[in-house]
Amino acid sequence: MKNDNFNRGLLKFLDASPTPFHCVANLAAALSGANFVELDEGAIWSIEAPGKYFVTRGDSSLIAFSLGSTPVGETGFRMVGSHTDSPCLKLKPNVALASSGYWQLGVEVYGSALLNPWFDRDLSVAGRVTLQTASGKLQNHLIDFEQSIAIIPSLAIHLDRDANNKREINSQTDLPPIVCLDGRELDLAQEIKNRLYASESELGEIEIISFDLSLYPTEPAAMIGLRHEFIASARLDNLLSCYAGLCALLEASETDNCLIVCNDHEEVGSGSAIGARGTFLRSVLDRITENNETFSRTIMRSIFISTDNAHGVHPNFPSSHDKQHSPSLNSGPVIKFNSNQAYASTGETAAMFQQACTAVGIPVQNFVSRSDMACGSTIGPLTATALGVKTVDVGVPTFAMHSIRELAGSKDTYSLYQALCWIFGQREQMPNNL
Ligand code: CO
Repeated sequence: MKNDNFNRGLLKFLDASPTPFHCVANLAAALSGANFVELDEGAIWSIEAPGKYFVTRGDSSLIAFSLGSTPVGETGFRMVGSHTDSPCLKLKPNVALASSGYWQLGVEVYGSALLNPWFDRDLSVAGRVTLQTASGKLQNHLIDFEQSIAIIPSLAIHLDRDANNKREINSQTDLPPIVCLDGRELDLAQEIKNRLYASESELGEIEIISFDLSLYPTEPAAMIGLRHEFIASARLDNLLSCYAGLCALLEASETDNCLIVCNDHEEVGSGSAIGARGTFLRSVLDRITENNETFSRTIMRSIFISTDNAHGVHPNFPSSHDKQHSPSLNSGPVIKFNSNQAYASTGETAAMFQQACTAVGIPVQNFVSRSDMACGSTIGPLTATALGVKTVDVGVPTFAMHSIRELAGSKDTYSLYQALCWIFGQREQMPNNL
């Protein structure tokens, strides 16, 4: 039952978070609802321990922390990292394209998306728009068109006889989705305005100046399989980990100092003002610890659990994995290793995570890429490099990573949450109200 409640919440979170902006808004709402106080990076902070706080940067990265009764310099932080972004198609600024009697949207591929699954899907548009009010003020607003307003139809097999053998996708010419016939001018700014007015009636005269919008599939997240053993959804990488981290932090013990960081821009290498290569986490920790001495003591006593999905061994492609390191779905979270430091796990940090899994009675698996294959990476090594903090890279095994619809095991999601609860000091009592 507890597991069912967790997964129900996860499915809702996935559907309500079509973009990193929506993910952060949902995280912030849940934290505010649990009496976490929002901090503004541009204001003077007065932080008290014990106390619970969160701060966002760029509307799409978030750090939340609960300070316990023990000073950070003495016991450090238990930190859990994840990322808010997923590969997708982003709208170009001059977005309207006219072709062969249709209006289409100009799109750019964000991150290393698997492009084939984007064809023949019901798509909508969501993200952040920046508008100007009558007084000349710029304001950011979130928007979600919600309905299926776009589609990228495949070319029929009769017009491309080789489609099942060799199909190449040209990102510039093959991907623009169709939104309508070209009977009338396509004015996306006006469409955005109409929707904003419908949901925010107090808006006066506004002008849409620019936007950060992307396409997403409208098919909702679902429990699937004959025995409901799987979850299928867009953006499981890595909203699954954001949600598990959030729920664990909401249950954190009053004694320990616990922190979650959810970064945008992981899928494009994390190099930005809000990405894991940037200053966000370092700056927040500097302000919490107040001086270099306390900062250094805190870091040396901290552990960073970098949570990002892993690759389960696919029954149709078992040879893509190292035989000895072939994680299965629903056999527990995966610890990721790479001796070239694409993952930051060490024997020592892996042992710490294993201890957590053993303590809550869940299995744990190891992953190493085949030695003759390139390895992915994530925010773990970047954070370890930036802070010098002991780090372990872990994640739920999945199929179809970076597809428009990914697949995870419905037991593993809850197992990751249980392990994170233990790390956040909630060692005896597992919550059942989520
Ligand atoms: Co990821």
